[in-house]
Amino acid sequence: MNATNNDLGFIHRFIPATDVAAAADTVLLLHGTGGNENDLLELGTSLAPGANLLSPRGKILENGMPRFFRRLAEGVFDEEDLIHRTHELADFITAAAKHHGFDAKRVTALGYSNGGNIAASLMLLRPGVLQRAVLLRAMVPLIPDQTPDLTGTDVFLASGIADPILPLENARRLAAMLRDAGAEVKHLEIPTGHQLTSAELDATRNWLEQTSS
Ligand code: MLT
Repeated sequence: MNATNNDLGFIHRFIPATDVAAAADTVLLLHGTGGNENDLLELGTSLAPGANLLSPRGKILENGMPRFFRRLAEGVFDEEDLIHRTHELADFITAAAKHHGFDAKRVTALGYSNGGNIAASLMLLRPGVLQRAVLLRAMVPLIPDQTPDLTGTDVFLASGIADPILPLENARRLAAMLRDAGAEVKHLEIPTGHQLTSAELDATRNWLEQTSS
């Protein structure tokens, strides 16, 4: 199904793989605050050519801007809502795998900013839902009650050293937290701010190729 649809609880788009070799992988696109299900489609195609793309729209509206969970202020999250939204998104991925017919064990998140934060939360609260995650600007979303077992999960985290929204020190803590849980983490610290750079997108593409099984 290529058009936007409102099934399975999330407005979303699913674009089936065009390449048989890449068809086993599905890239879950998670937009930043104010984005929607169309924002990252081009980036997803460019970084993971041929893979299935699953792109939901965040359900929270903050002054009309879609997000994946509520926040109380910039960088201060509504933890109860975050936990609820994380489980809701995890259940959507499972339902979407059945509905669209992709392998639920081969899902790679590609999240920017708020989308990176919910992807990190997915790994911390629902280990096993994501096989890999690309977190383009992310921070510690919450501290889970129990350390998840993330053995076998690959993570690519890219942070801007001058990012005013997602401080580098906090991103380093996220990298350490994911490593402590057993994930294989590559953390790139880039001389930029919140905006993405073409060099880091090239590095992302290479990492996706190298870690594809
Ligand atoms: C968040 O709320 O997830 C982060 O502050 C990033 C953003 O501004 O969306």
